[in-house]
Amino acid sequence: MAAAKTSQGDEVWKKMELGLIPDEELRRLIKIEVEKRIKWFTKPTEQEQLAQLLDVVKSLRGMPIGSDDDEAHNSKFYDTPRSFDILIAGRTIKETSGLYTDPTITMDEAAEKMMDLYCERADIKDGQTVLDLGCGCGPLVLHIAKKYKNCKVTGVTNIPSQKDFILEQCKIRNLSNVEIIIADFLEKDIEATYDRVFLISVIEHFKNFGLVLREISKWVKDDGGLLFLEHLCHKRFAFHAAPIDEDDWFGKYILPTGTLPSANTLLYFQDDITVVDHWVLNGLTTFGLTKEECLKNLDNNMEEIKYEFKSYYGIGEEETLKKINWWRVLFIIWEEMFKYNNGEDYMVAHLLFKKK
Ligand SMILES: C[S@@+](CC[C@H](N)C(=O)[O-])C[C@H]1O[C@@H](n2cnc3c(N)ncnc32)[C@H](O)[C@@H]1O
Repeated sequence: MAAAKTSQGDEVWKKMELGLIPDEELRRLIKIEVEKRIKWFTKPTEQEQLAQLLDVVKSLRGMPIGSDDDEAHNSKFYDTPRSFDILIAGRTIKETSGLYTDPTITMDEAAEKMMDLYCERADIKDGQTVLDLGCGCGPLVLHIAKKYKNCKVTGVTNIPSQKDFILEQCKIRNLSNVEIIIADFLEKDIEATYDRVFLISVIEHFKNFGLVLREISKWVKDDGGLLFLEHLCHKRFAFHAAPIDEDDWFGKYILPTGTLPSANTLLYFQDDITVVDHWVLNGLTTFGLTKEECLKNLDNNMEEIKYEFKSYYGIGEEETLKKINWWRVLFIIWEEMFKYNNGEDYMVAHLLFKKK
């Protein structure tokens, strides 16, 4: 059998993975990919731009909820030692967007400001029932449980070790109003409905947004229930995460699955829910600066992270180096994408929906 052809992109990636490309050059190569995508998906007329978006919307409608290789890809992202999450994301353990109202505030302060904004926009009232789907290491669950002592907060995660970690954090923080369910939230039977449902930086994993929102809407109370959703986006175009040409190491090795919606893509999926409010946030002062901080934290804790990776994954020096470089490249890609054009291209979208 003929050996698979190695592209120029494969060669670039091999060097990146071994840390053989200095950061300045790495950023230059990443900027080329960021600009390539913007050129590729930006159309010369509004008519063609809208057609680009609707092509993606229509293709998503015809697809299953997720793509086949999601599991392997997701485990790369989420099967991590909890010590790594703490070293990277700080006290709040929030790795998704913070809100840098001022560039000098700390990562913890920015994370708290963003979670306060979620609560304000979702109009949470103390005493309500709250559900956080795809809660990760629990930043929002812990934040709401502390801020609203009479709310009953439920988090759903598909990573079992995250449950133990969150419950341990509840003990440390003296919180008794939290419940964590281990489940794939798309497969769990609906037993309860909630006043407020949150989906923070999860929808980008999926394909058929209509089916995802149908499943999620079942958890939202009929009477006054609200769904608050955050996702990364481009302000105008949407695209399937996949290589855009044969040299595209970026699409092949880092972001091979899922979908990046445009700021308004979800408005085309309102069969079971109705939009109540909609916002976009600058990409630089949210995800861009958050990922800059994640990178600094990774670099400042390199020796400890190497040690944690080696013992958690049971791997040697070279595999550890590759894992660390995968994270470094990912953080730099996200930083460059969301800082591009002062954060006015790649952005963060917030949407508030009620049930139909
Ligand atoms: C980018 S992380 C965001 C985590 C958290 N919402 C936050 O803001 O920190 C996406 C999370 O969604 C979870 N997830 C994805 N699909 C899921 C599913 N079908 N059921 C449960 N959790 C899921 C992943 O395990 C991961 O923790």
